[in-house]
Amino acid sequence: MILGRKKLRLTLVFITAVVCVFTFVEVLSTFQLNKEIEHYKYIMKKKKNNPGFFDPINIKQIPYAAIENLHSKRVNENKDSNGDVLDWNKFAYVNYVADAEYLCNTNVMFKKLLDSGTKAKLVLLVTSDLLEEPNSDIDVEAKLQDLKELSENQVLIKQIEPIYKPKDGTEWKNSLSKLLVFNETLYDRIVYMDNDALLRGETTNLDELFFLPSYIDFAAPLTYWMFTSSKIAHAYHEVANVEKWSTRLDKYIDESFLSAKKEDAYQFYNGLPNLPPSLYLSESKNIASEILESTSTISLSSTVKSLYATKNKNDVAKFASDLMVIKPSQELFDTIYTDLIPRNLKRKEKYDMDVINEEMYDLKKIIYYQFKLFKKLKKAFVPNVLVLPAREYGLLSGSLRNPKHYDFLKHDCIGYYDGIEKDAKNEKIEDIVAKWNKYTHFSDYPMGKPWYYDKSDDFECEIKDNLEDTEGACKTWQHDFRAFISEYEAVC
Ligand SMILES: *[C@@H]1O[C@H](CO)[C@@H](O)[C@H](O)[C@H]1NC(C)=O
Repeated sequence: MILGRKKLRLTLVFITAVVCVFTFVEVLSTFQLNKEIEHYKYIMKKKKNNPGFFDPINIKQIPYAAIENLHSKRVNENKDSNGDVLDWNKFAYVNYVADAEYLCNTNVMFKKLLDSGTKAKLVLLVTSDLLEEPNSDIDVEAKLQDLKELSENQVLIKQIEPIYKPKDGTEWKNSLSKLLVFNETLYDRIVYMDNDALLRGETTNLDELFFLPSYIDFAAPLTYWMFTSSKIAHAYHEVANVEKWSTRLDKYIDESFLSAKKEDAYQFYNGLPNLPPSLYLSESKNIASEILESTSTISLSSTVKSLYATKNKNDVAKFASDLMVIKPSQELFDTIYTDLIPRNLKRKEKYDMDVINEEMYDLKKIIYYQFKLFKKLKKAFVPNVLVLPAREYGLLSGSLRNPKHYDFLKHDCIGYYDGIEKDAKNEKIEDIVAKWNKYTHFSDYPMGKPWYYDKSDDFECEIKDNLEDTEGACKTWQHDFRAFISEYEAVC
């Protein structure tokens, strides 16, 4: 009995000691990591333009002016980023259709892209079940034929095998198939677009997105509609008063930065505005523990870690998946196909966007892996992700009816002012949209998708569910519906 108790006590002491040692090591390494992060943050602020390496501790937003500038430079020189003659066969716009009702939207979108004079390929990925077991009154073959006839040269239709989640009865059951867009490895760069969207203007394309720096594998706008007004206000406050970065966007896109030569890749990238950290990290100031948590797997150390884990998780900032600029690679696709898709097939409520945001491009994990790689490689470290401006590429049609979103959409990069702050304050949202927006995704709310309606239908701007409309914004919203419907009727 006495011996037993002694043993028990010894065991307890032993376990406590082990836990203490682990905790101590954890705390120490977290402390160390925080110190390092702080150190590099300081360096990035002091000599951001050329510290001799890529910024490893921030996520960058690319302003529209910078995208446009890269584009016109390449097109003027007719050279790609390796100095070779531009080969437009290496660029593709990609659509994906798993529902026959959406086929016509691709016709509308591709026609508009062709009218704009783009030389890129136009690729439609269509799930093979639409052809094998047509279950609607839509003549799939005929629709695909129409599409092909838009341009024998540029339009390509590729059948893909849909990926179904077993035991999933929702409308998203085959949404993991969308990840097959990452398989388009024939191309150096693809611009993936959901086709329930409007390309704004008469002749619009997004060619400029093919010319993002070649080391960038993935770029997309953020799902801004998930941010609360206070979150956005805080992001502005943070840039100006906490991080003390310049809030004037023009400072980031001045002449010298835009004319940065190819060999000044560090200067170009480091000069881009940072994403305000409060959008993806909580206020704990303990960045290290937070990014470590985001990557931890089941282990004793992660159990110990969870004892002092940050309480308020912050994972509001996510990439939208309706428009994505991708540099496809076989290696990445193999990981997606043999690892990520099988792993998420049986998980409940895990769809394409979750795989993209939780497994591939989680903002916290990006910081963690960037920094880890940087410590190993220093000069050879290359970042691979950018945030695109939502005002140009990420607008949801419903936002025109929701004044809570206006503040966000007034400026190009979150946390930064395009000009003098007051100027934009007076600008009307409809003018901003007309001037800048290129791609608007039709939301399901407050109205259904436009192709369910007739051109003659009047889309009323009633005030519903405390959505106050402003007249001008509503006119734009109505105009978008009508514009889409007339484009649709002309093609389909
Ligand atoms: C990926 O693309 C290649 C080339 O087009 C094709 O042969 C292959 O079947 C595709 N893989 C999947 C899983 O769809």
